[in-house]
Amino acid sequence: MKKGKIVAGVLAPHPPHLVYGENPEQNEPKSDGGWEALRWAYERCRRSVLSEAPDVLLVHSPHWQTIVGHHVLGLERFQGLSVDPIFPHLFRYHYDLRVDVELSQMIAEEGAHQGLTMKVMKNPNFRIDYGSITSLHLMNPAWNIPVVCISSNNSPYYFSNEVGQEQMIRLGQATKRAIERSGKRCVLLASNSLSHRHFTSEPDLPEDMSHEHIYHHGQYLWDMKVLELMREGRCQELLDILPEFIDMSAAEVKAGSLAWMLSALDVPTYPAEIHGYGTVIGTGNAVVEWKTQPGGAL
Ligand SMILES: [Fe+2]
Repeated sequence: MKKGKIVAGVLAPHPPHLVYGENPEQNEPKSDGGWEALRWAYERCRRSVLSEAPDVLLVHSPHWQTIVGHHVLGLERFQGLSVDPIFPHLFRYHYDLRVDVELSQMIAEEGAHQGLTMKVMKNPNFRIDYGSITSLHLMNPAWNIPVVCISSNNSPYYFSNEVGQEQMIRLGQATKRAIERSGKRCVLLASNSLSHRHFTSEPDLPEDMSHEHIYHHGQYLWDMKVLELMREGRCQELLDILPEFIDMSAAEVKAGSLAWMLSALDVPTYPAEIHGYGTVIGTGNAVVEWKTQPGGAL
């Protein structure tokens, strides 16, 4: 069988506001729009990624948190209503997703070989988190490509940034090996914002863009530093400074999604494409694509 490959990795942030701004039929609340810079960035990235005709989209989400080990979805179909616990007035999304169970299983096997605690999750009533749904929806609103959802283990929170990132790097290597075995063309989505300090009050109209701005200049400078490293293909340096970035800007990369993806991509030394940067309630968000070189990163 032909060896599988990762055709692209994407930093794919998941503020529910972006889905709210798009007004898809699956989402109950309706808006006047808003956060266009980021939504258009997703559009550009989507065109690029889907032109590769991937077989599977894989997402690692900070909002599927597991205390023991790393979990993957293990049933072919999940349907239900996903509600953001912080923004239930923005995100009440009716989802219907198809899972590539074979690839999920392979990731669990390869993770176990790496010494990680893995679980294939087979509860038919499990509710999919809004982080996974938002990144997947914005990357492929047609939902016509099977997905794999991977949980974020809480080790960065219970132990340290360093221990957590080290676990995610092993999970990334396991994911890469599983993809190679699968023979499939895959896209990885790291469902993370960057700096994550945010406003604590909301305008009467959430999509009133006259209220949207960068939270703090220091946070902005950290985001720009991180994006510069991505643009220049200096991803090992990026991994090296992640613990400090996390501490200085409450960065959501703490949950490990970015480290997982960079590891699976063999820590890119080629430039990433920044499709766009913008804030959502003051948090820093960028849509960034690593398109693997001809022949792929694998
Ligand atoms: Fe989040």
